[in-house]
Amino acid sequence: MKFDVITLFPQMIEQACSHSIIARGIDSGVISVNTINPRDYTKDKHKKVDDTPFGGGAGMVLMCQPYFDAFDALEKDEDSEVILLSPQGEVFNQKLSFELSMKKHIVLVCGHYEGFDERIKQYTKAREVSIGDYVLTGGELPALCMIDSISRNIDGFLGKIDSANFDSFSDGLLEYPQYTKPRVYNGLPVPEILLSGNHMAISQWRRKQQLIVTYKKRKDLFDNFRKNCNNKEDLKLLNEVIKEIKE
Ligand code: ADE
Repeated sequence: MKFDVITLFPQMIEQACSHSIIARGIDSGVISVNTINPRDYTKDKHKKVDDTPFGGGAGMVLMCQPYFDAFDALEKDEDSEVILLSPQGEVFNQKLSFELSMKKHIVLVCGHYEGFDERIKQYTKAREVSIGDYVLTGGELPALCMIDSISRNIDGFLGKIDSANFDSFSDGLLEYPQYTKPRVYNGLPVPEILLSGNHMAISQWRRKQQLIVTYKKRKDLFDNFRKNCNNKEDLKLLNEVIKEIKE
């Protein structure tokens, strides 16, 4: 998977990608992350990339020329997915993350200031994506969130293939609670069942915990899971959870 990030602040992307699991993914060749700076493509003698808005108003608008040319300089094919980060876009979630992890090439276009000249969206034929209903100062942090989330869905990126499959959201439920050594800390014990060695009982307990956690923290996700659930075991646990919480 190749990510090309069009950004006025390449160091933000490069720095963040030089640590931890993303850096390991780059080193092992599972992903690559490249940056392209529209400022390197501006034909303006003062290296300007933005200008005041037609029609008046506050702030600056990113200009077509440096973005068109930076975009044109990238190698693309018909399978390349172009994404423009914007608070106006469709909201990013785990489903979209999985969908995008099947691509071979993703171009992420980051904005700044008041926004893009609308013709940049037209020209790049980009899909607009937001990482949530709040406004950030630029698209770099959203681009990094997307790179991180998409990458961990790619086979071979995480150490164990299973690690992503048991994540929160992977089947519409949040994750069960995790514990590590010691068995008791500051008087707080680990649930007895996790020390039992009974794998069947542990996996049942974990599934039930997933349902409890999701019910308590994200009732919307729980209701959705319940609506689509046709697994007998899950249905049984689901009804137990509802009964226990209501009691
Ligand atoms: N740029 C500014 N805010 C954003 C958001 N919430 N998502 C994506 N890009 C943005």
